[in-house]
Amino acid sequence: MTVAVIGTGNMGAGIARLLASKGERVVIGSRDPAKAAKLAEEIGAGAEGGGIAAAAKLADVVIFAVNYPQAGEAVREAGGFAGKVLVDISNPITEDFKDLRVGHTTSAAEELQKLAPEAKVVKAFNTIFAQLLPAEAREGRDPVQVFVAGDDEAAKKTVSDLVAKGGFQPIESGPLSNARFLEPLGEINIHFGFFLGWGTSAAPAWIKAAA
Ligand SMILES: NC(=O)c1ccc[n+]([C@@H]2O[C@H](COP(=O)([O-])OP(=O)(O)OC[C@H]3O[C@@H](n4cnc5c(N)ncnc54)[C@H](OP(=O)(O)O)[C@@H]3O)[C@@H](O)[C@H]2O)c1
Repeated sequence: MTVAVIGTGNMGAGIARLLASKGERVVIGSRDPAKAAKLAEEIGAGAEGGGIAAAAKLADVVIFAVNYPQAGEAVREAGGFAGKVLVDISNPITEDFKDLRVGHTTSAAEELQKLAPEAKVVKAFNTIFAQLLPAEAREGRDPVQVFVAGDDEAAKKTVSDLVAKGGFQPIESGPLSNARFLEPLGEINIHFGFFLGWGTSAAPAWIKAAA
């Protein structure tokens, strides 16, 4: 299986580094192919880098690590996701990070699905700060949960397996429309992390109280 990561920012670089370190074949796609190639070289472990369309074309799973306002542009540049799993990790936040641009009746994940109707969109990773992606940042803690929502069960299983391979605990979170609830969870985590003093190791943990 080949995993493409689109975007070389905080989340893209972190996810690419984590998955490559766990033995996944990772191809990084950037608007600037040289930037992706340089990041891939830094990561090592067989990671490759190039343009967005080239990376997406090679991949079975495309992790979309682009900010919500640029989603349309990036989807157009990718050129098509037929038969591919497209992982939406976004929080569609406002410029001041304090609110969401969409919600209640839709979500960033559902909007991405509209932009790429041929893809199997799965929501994941939106409640995890980039600083928690390196395995060392999570050493000695309970497994950090990653909420996984989507309409295609096989695609959700593929993403859950990648999440587990990265050392996170995948939490089955229902259909893609549940991204309407996961994105506010990402937003409150941003409030905890940035505005309420918890820092970027904050992450939500869903518990089952003992019966
Ligand atoms: N940072 C976090 O802790 C965190 C946590 C959870 C979820 N998220 C979500 O993860 C996503 C990425 O966040 P981030 O923090 O990694 O952002 P970031 O550091 O700003 O990186 C975003 C990347 O998107 C790419 N990009 C920008 N404009 C583009 C365009 N027009 N077309 C194609 N690619 C474009 C750029 O990569 P190139 O220059 O290589 O093209 C850029 O590095 C966002 O949706 C965010 O809500 C972030």
